[in-house]
Amino acid sequence: MTVFFLIFEASNEVNHQTTLQISMNFFITEEHMAVKEAARDFTQQVLLPGVIDRDRHMKYPTEEVRKMAEMGFLGMMVSPEYGGGGMDTLSYVLAMEEISKVDSSCSVIMSVNNSLVCWGLEAFGTEEQKQKYLTKLATGEWIGSFCLSEPEAGSDATSQCTTAIDMGDHYLLNGTKNWITNGGTSRIHLVIAQTYPELGHKGINAFIVDTQWEGVNIGAKEDKLGIRASDTHTIMYTDVKVPKENRIGEDGFGFKFAMKVLSGGRIGIAAQALGIAAGAYELSVKYAKEREAFGKPIGQHQAIAFKLADMATEIEAARLLVYRSAAMKDKGLDYTTAASMGKLFASEVAMKHTVEAIQIHGGYGYVKEYHVERLMRDAKITQIYEGTSEMQRVVISRAILSGQLYEPVFFQD
Ligand code: CAA
Repeated sequence: MTVFFLIFEASNEVNHQTTLQISMNFFITEEHMAVKEAARDFTQQVLLPGVIDRDRHMKYPTEEVRKMAEMGFLGMMVSPEYGGGGMDTLSYVLAMEEISKVDSSCSVIMSVNNSLVCWGLEAFGTEEQKQKYLTKLATGEWIGSFCLSEPEAGSDATSQCTTAIDMGDHYLLNGTKNWITNGGTSRIHLVIAQTYPELGHKGINAFIVDTQWEGVNIGAKEDKLGIRASDTHTIMYTDVKVPKENRIGEDGFGFKFAMKVLSGGRIGIAAQALGIAAGAYELSVKYAKEREAFGKPIGQHQAIAFKLADMATEIEAARLLVYRSAAMKDKGLDYTTAASMGKLFASEVAMKHTVEAIQIHGGYGYVKEYHVERLMRDAKITQIYEGTSEMQRVVISRAILSGQLYEPVFFQD
């Protein structure tokens, strides 16, 4: 069975790239549906039972992550030759969506490992780096972190204060990174650092750092509003000797590496936001059918029915944007702006409709047992990490104003 999902034909008469950004063919195949169903079963059986407890006690899901690795969820898009699942981005998005309906602490661990760390290494690493590191990261034997943010460099990612001084046969790494997902559990860090300050962003490099090396110190675990079972830390690097062969790409490629990796990462976070919204919606529909007030299920009162209608419509719109960005990546098109649009919209929808889900549940929505308050707390971070909603608007508006997006294909003079 092939599910027809969305189809517009591209016109050959207008700019190829621009047209394809608007007009995409993509299909959800039987294989995609199998991935989605496997992720749904896994989530219900393995993640759901302890999710409230892990959230309450900030308990890292060690056993659950091990099982995710066994299922192949930690290196879904990596080529089989490096131990990955060899799947496309759409499969990854479908799995992320299902897992995020229940447990976004687990899905952020999965997202960072898949789309920031593994994808970055496979796309830009040397063969030696892939053999040495990617093979272990793709199977989940090791977990990775992406270390870009600093106390003074969040959205303004070019202002890196962490330095990597070229010492001839190695680099000497010094600095502090914060908000690092998987920070206390990861074996491998991809660290962005400044080598030539006088060159600005062109002087930045990216490095593979083994956390077992001397000089890598892990700070305290953050006590967060949401995704509380995930492991977020500050990391300090003090005179860490990084071998030359652990630099990723050409000298000075580090900022572009970070931006390219984040474009893909944003598809994963958009899928997470979509899953959170869809999870809140599923719970709301169920509750609206079961809970009675004034002699009938609350879903039959227009006040609730219209909320469900708005939720369903906006979640479906988010789904189309997110799947489209994944399909564009799979087709080798420029997906940066599409990824930002998906993340911006899906995260705003997640925040808005998790709040509505609590309202539909009334007092029950305000307590932990009914899950929707956790979904609301988890939704908030999707508007912040891997680029805030404001930074997504920067990316999108620059694409519009530079003429890269939505040229007047249908409205030419
Ligand atoms: N792909 C390739 N290259 C890119 C790019 C992309 N997506 N975006 C920018 N670049 C290139 C530009 O072409 C430019 O190169 P040239 O000078 O050679 O032309 C260079 O990078 C600098 O680009 P800008 O001038 O656009 O840089 P800027 O300072 O204006 O910043 C920005 C742009 C989009 C705001 C960027 O700083 C940004 O994305 N900030 C947000 C950072 C972020 O997402 N942080 C998330 C932290 S990681 C995280 O959250 C992980 C986790 O653990 C969950």
